[in-house]
This record gives sequence, C-alpha cells and structure tokens, in this order.
Amino acid sequence: MVRTHRTETVVVGAGGAGLMAALYASRGSQTVVLSKLYPTRSHTGTAQGGIGAALGNIEEDHPEWHTFDTVKGSDYLADQDAVERMCYEAPEIVYELEHMGLPFSRTPEGKINQRPFGGHAAEFGKRPVPRACFAADRTGHMILQTLYQQCLKHRVKFYDEFHVLDLVLSPDGRAAGVVAYDIDQGELHLFHAKAVIFATGGFGRIWQITSNAHSLTGDGPAILLQKGLPLEDMEFFQFHPTGIYKMGILITEAVRGEGGVLRNDQGERFMERYAPTMKDLASRDVVSRAIYLEVKAGRGIGGKNYVHLDATHLGREKIEERLPDIADFCRTYLGIDPAEQPIPVQPTAHYAMGGIPTDVEGRVRRNAAGDLVPGLYAAGEVACVSVHGANRLGTNSLLDIVVFGKHAGQDAARFCQQNDWPELPEETWQPSQATIERILNNTGEDNAARIRDEMQAVMMDHVGVFRTAEGIQKALEKIHELQERVRHVTVSDKGKRFNTELLEAIELRNLLELAEVTAQSALNRTESRGAHYREDFQQRDDEHWLKHTFVRKEDGQIRFEYRPVVITKYQPQERKY
Ligand code: FUM
Repeated sequence: MVRTHRTETVVVGAGGAGLMAALYASRGSQTVVLSKLYPTRSHTGTAQGGIGAALGNIEEDHPEWHTFDTVKGSDYLADQDAVERMCYEAPEIVYELEHMGLPFSRTPEGKINQRPFGGHAAEFGKRPVPRACFAADRTGHMILQTLYQQCLKHRVKFYDEFHVLDLVLSPDGRAAGVVAYDIDQGELHLFHAKAVIFATGGFGRIWQITSNAHSLTGDGPAILLQKGLPLEDMEFFQFHPTGIYKMGILITEAVRGEGGVLRNDQGERFMERYAPTMKDLASRDVVSRAIYLEVKAGRGIGGKNYVHLDATHLGREKIEERLPDIADFCRTYLGIDPAEQPIPVQPTAHYAMGGIPTDVEGRVRRNAAGDLVPGLYAAGEVACVSVHGANRLGTNSLLDIVVFGKHAGQDAARFCQQNDWPELPEETWQPSQATIERILNNTGEDNAARIRDEMQAVMMDHVGVFRTAEGIQKALEKIHELQERVRHVTVSDKGKRFNTELLEAIELRNLLELAEVTAQSALNRTESRGAHYREDFQQRDDEHWLKHTFVRKEDGQIRFEYRPVVITKYQPQERKY
C-alpha cells in the first residue's frame, strides 16, 4: 500500500541546510522535512571548528577579504557573485543564529569569539586572521540543535526515518514531490508537493578513509542523476588534511587555528617549506598534498603514511577549553592525551565541492545554459552554487548551509504562493517498489558490504589526492564491474520493517553512481586545480579549463557540458600561501 500526502514544500534532509530551508519555507508555505535519520543525528552535528564571518571581533576584518580568500581558495573556479553574496551576508546570519540562542564561545568582553582557520587571511593574503566564529569545537552540533529547536517552535512537521527513493516530476517537467520509504513500517509514501528542496549532504562514503558518517551516501544527487539531470564539478572532492590515522575521523583544523603544527618523522614543521606565509593554515588542498609528499619522500612517521599533529605546546587548559571534543576523541579512539602526545593524522575524504547545480536562490539548473527545473531546489553540501569552486575553505560549509538554506527556503515559499499544484504522473511510486522487490528477491552470493569495500579501496587508490589517467581508468573498470554486481546483490533479511540491509543496498547503488561520475569527471579534466591534482597534468590550465563541468547520464552514456565561471572582481592569479 502506498500512502499519499499533500504538502506545499518538502525538504529532504534535516542537517543545517535542510533545517534552515525548512524554517524559512515554513514562513510562507506548509512545510515538511523528511530525514532518513533522527534530525539531530545529521552530519552537520559533527562540524567542529567554526563558521566563517568577518565580524572583526578579535582583529580588523572585512567581508571583502573573506570574499577574496574564498575565491583564491577555490583556485578561481568559484562563481564570484555567489561568493560575494555568501561572505557579505555572513555577519548578519551569524548574529541571527546568536539571536536564535546559539551558545557561541565568548571573548572576555562578551563578543562572539573567533579564531584563525586555513586560507582565511587579512589584507588579501598577508597573514592569518581570526574569522571562524566558534562554539568550542562543537559549532555544527550547536547549529543543528538551535535550528531544530527553531523548526519545532515554528511547527515544521518532521517525518523521521523516512528514506527518500525518488523525485517525482510532472509531465511538464516541474518538481511534483518525492517517493519515500518509511523505515520503521516498511511502507512507501508519496509526498505530492509544489516545491522540493534536496539537502541530503555529501557522499564521502565512496572513499575508504573518510570523515563522513555512514549515512552520507549521496542519495539526493544520485536520484537526480537517475532522472537524467546533471551534476556540477564532480571531480572536486576535498581531502581534509587531519583525519585520525586509519580511521579518518575528523580532527578539526581549529587545532592548527589554535596553534597546533604538523610535523614529519624528523620532527620538522614541514609546512614552512610548502606555504611560507600561512604555513599550517594554508588551504586544505595544499596541506593534504604536502602531507602525501612528505610520506612519499619517506618522512611519514616511522616510514608509514601519516604525520603528526602536534598540539602539546598549547597546554592542557587551552585544549580542554577550546578543543574539548578533540581531547575526548584522542583519549577514546587513540588512547592518547593530546596535551602530552602528538596526534597521528592522514588526509581524509571530507567534502564534496561538486553536486546539484543551483543558482544563488537554490533553484536547480537542468543544464549548463542555466534553464531551471521549476519547483526544485538544493542547498548545502549536496548543492554546487558554486561558492567553493575547486577547493573549499574551512568554516565556509557551515556558512554555505545557513546562507543558501535560507535563500532556498524563501524562494520555495514564494514559488508555492505563485503556482498551482503540479500534475502527478500515474503510479509514480512503481519504480521504487520494483527496486525494493528486486533486491528482496535476489538470490546471488554477493553482499553490499563486500562491494562497498572494493569500491572504497579503488577510489582511495586511484581517485584520491593524486590522480593519473591510467589510475582513474583502472578505477572506472572496477566501478563498472561493481555496478553490474550490485544489481544482483542479496540481502539475508527479507522483511520490510527496519531492513537496514535493504537500504544499504540502495545506498550502495547511489554511491556507485557517484563514484562513476566522479571518476569520469576527474578523467575528463586534464589539468590540476584545487583539490583535483593530476600527476599527468600538473599545471592549472585557465585557457581550457576555467569552466564548470556539468556531467549527466543519457541512456547509460556519460555526457559533459560546460558553464563559464562568473568573474566579478578577481582575475585568476597564481596561488601562493
Ligand atoms: O576542521 C574543521 O573543523 C572542519 C571544518 C569545515 O570543514 O569547515
């Protein structure tokens, strides 16, 4: 049986972007949020170090400097009109969060406290500037709790543990709703809507070492890809320099913002050689590559593929006050005290710069020419506005989710007021039902865990920080083999209620779709820019590649289109930190 609902705006995902979008959409439309998790378990809750805004509470700062740093950090691929909007709106939105009740850490005078973060600098790159507004090392957690409380206060309706399986499009190409699986009851639901906002987060789970939670399986972008819609700049995926060795769990850049330094096996503070001005606070792409170059040169700790993050000189008091969760992680996962011992770290797959192409109102583009899918929105990590270009600066993701979550919610409400209900195609839930029945009835030998391990290993080896055509092609061969195998994957649980095996099989299909377009886009871009580093094309090539990639699948074939980068003030220059 399929249950049907009618609601004006449906938000898919209950992280910071989804909640901010819901809050604003609910001011002008009847709004529901569908989330495969309980909302406060969303991944925004793991964001640690801060949200970027040029408040100037500690030292002089300006939105213009923030804009420049973001554009430079993006390796000049970000759209500068979008970056300006984000950085100029940042102070106001941080104060809005404060007024909602977010418990920021304070300066002795009671202002919101700020600390330096990678790539954020004063006077167009001269020296690090404290720009990250923080709540100890729990900034994302506090944002998530605050926004969830606000949504409850404003009577946003939540459907928790509802896994969205499909986007419904009307015969005239408008968003018309979604099909979702009620995990608890094992039933399909159809939500008929005027506006749909995807805020499903990232897809770091295509790599073996990742800071991303198990739930980050890219359901939103995979669903759009299956509908023939494009994704933008999928070749750009950020590896955060400091994940716990072998586990990938994030050790916030705030450790370096507070004065921590990276050291190689010889105890050398090696970032001084790679980035003489910003040193350990250079942008993430630069620091992650430097770590691997040290490892390749045999200077990893004990010859292994990790280095040390040394915070021992910060003192216990500062660590416990400013970085309490990090101190806990070190004790829990490593059995060490960061006030006494350095932390073993390696780069960890962290953040998708690419995703669903949108304009600055969060409206989804159907092609590189900029035509829209009426009523369809995306916000947060799932979207590519593009404010991060080829490499995001730390603290700009929390900013992105609230700024563009707000705009998406506002525009969706406006859209609902101006438009009638879209027509629903007949029995639009059929493909979702057929997928579920197929997986439950499969009888092969392969299981999802095995296929996932193989995908993660090959992506780590060949589509990670360093890439070559030969390696990416090997990865693609493997991915194609796994895509065939995943069609026959079996589950031992044949029931429908709380069947996490069934959902993992669906998530794995989504991950493989995204692994494929990530690898294809990486192969296609024959230059190095930001987080995409091709050993066989080591230079940035503005003449041919100062453009966004749109990738889509048509009849199983990959197709590319391109969109020019929006440049307002800052012409591309060589990046030095
Ligand atoms: O290092 C961190 O705290 C991560 C922040 C971010 O990804 O923006």
